[in-house]
Order: sequence, then C-alpha cells, then structure tokens
Amino acid sequence: MNVSSVSHFGALVVPSDVADIRELHIEELRALVREHHLLVLRDFFAFDDAVSFADYCERWGEVSVWPFGKVLELVEQAQPVDHIFDNNYVPLHWDGMYRKHVPEFQIFHCVSAPAGHQGGRTTFSNTASALERAPRSARALWERVTGVYQRKMAYYDSKTVAPVVTKHPARDYNVIRYNEPPTQGDESFVNHPALAFEGIAAADVAAFHRSLRDALYAPESFYAHAWRTGDVVIADNYTLLHGREAFATGAPRHLRRVHVLGDPPLDNPHLVAYG
Ligand SMILES: [Fe+2]
Repeated sequence: MNVSSVSHFGALVVPSDVADIRELHIEELRALVREHHLLVLRDFFAFDDAVSFADYCERWGEVSVWPFGKVLELVEQAQPVDHIFDNNYVPLHWDGMYRKHVPEFQIFHCVSAPAGHQGGRTTFSNTASALERAPRSARALWERVTGVYQRKMAYYDSKTVAPVVTKHPARDYNVIRYNEPPTQGDESFVNHPALAFEGIAAADVAAFHRSLRDALYAPESFYAHAWRTGDVVIADNYTLLHGREAFATGAPRHLRRVHVLGDPPLDNPHLVAYG
C-alpha cells in the first residue's frame, strides 16, 4: 500500500500490491490511525453489503451493537425524526457521548457519494492539535468549562457532563470533548440536544465558543472529507471531533458506519444518566 497525507493530519492509503482491503494488515492500519488519527482507504475493492462490512469491522475489535444492529445506514430520510437523518449540517461532537461505551474507532464505508457540488463532506477536527496550538489564555478559558449535554432520541435518553479539556483515555496527551452548539440556532434541527456550558460567567460564554470554534476549525487542525464512492474512512474518536456539512436534498449520499470499541472498552466516563 502507498501512504500519503490528506491534510495536516490524516493519512491516505491507496493500493500498490493488494487491491482488496481485507488483505491489508489490521495491525499496520491500527498503528496508522493512532499516529495520524484518520485513515482514508481509497480505490480498494471493499464491501458488497452491510454484512461483509460488519464482518470486516469485527477484525478491528469489539463492535458496538445498537438497537438497530452493528451498521448504521446514514442516508437522508424523507421524514427524519432526528437531524442525523436530515440533510442539514451536523455540529462537531464525539460519538458515544450518550452511550455506555465510547468507541475508539468509527469505520465508515461510502456506498454512494454525492457529487462534488452537492456538499455533504464529513468534518473532522484534531483536538490534540487544537490544544497544542491554542494561545495560553484561550486554553485557560477552555479548561474552566464543563459541558452539560442532554439528548433523547430513539436509542437513548441520556445526560453527559464532560470537562472541555480532558485526558485522552489511553495516551499521554489532552483532548477536547465538546458538542458544538449549532451556529444557525436550534430551530433548523430536528431533535437537537439541550446544551449548557458551566464554570465561567455568562458574559464569557460567547467568547468561549468563539475561541474554541476558531481553534477547532483552524486549517491546521481541521479536515473536511469529500466522499468518493467506495471510500473507507477510519477515525480516532478518542482524539477527533466530527460533524457533517449540509448537502443538497436528494443527493445520493449513503454512508455505512460501525463503532469499534477500544481494548478494553472505554466505559463512558462522562455519562451521568442513561435510560
Ligand atoms: Fe457522530
């Protein structure tokens, strides 16, 4: 395989000797994800269906099972009951924040990509980089803040309380855990979570969000992935935050996503209520 950079972080892997993704060594790929935080595997022969995709993900570790199964079908719905099935943008967040276990890896398979002009890139922010690059004053502000998040949807009714700056669960560096409030207001979202940010004066909350957003979206720490049909993307959910850009309604955007737990699985350290 040939490895190159996709952005300031992330690695692009394309075939050289083998063409089938299943022939790549998982341990080699796992080391690449831990080093680069994001892997884009492009132009490989991949998966015909959700079952073969899930079977492949099992080789990465314990797959998190949801009420719908192992594979989430991310596709626009005509009458979405939740914004993830809408075509609007999704603010930065980390997966599993409302679940009992926080997955280490997200694995995506792009069944069908929208055209370039239709939007729908998946956004990733490297929070370790954002922290390293932050001015001391901004970092000091972020370290005082705790996010309080509540979300009720089909699969849970949870409350999560997470300091914005926290230790990576397995490595010796800090990361940011943050569910960004929607920039366009809650009203454009179906079933948006309730968010509150505590630890600083109300007058400082706007400056907090502004400085954190500036850091998370700075070109050195941010990457938006434009999907190509067949792409397999593996993301380090412990270090990155992710979201989605809006896309044209009716665009043929179909992703499959699986959560792979760490070894050992990470008990969600921020979950205070789960129902
Ligand atoms: Fe997500």
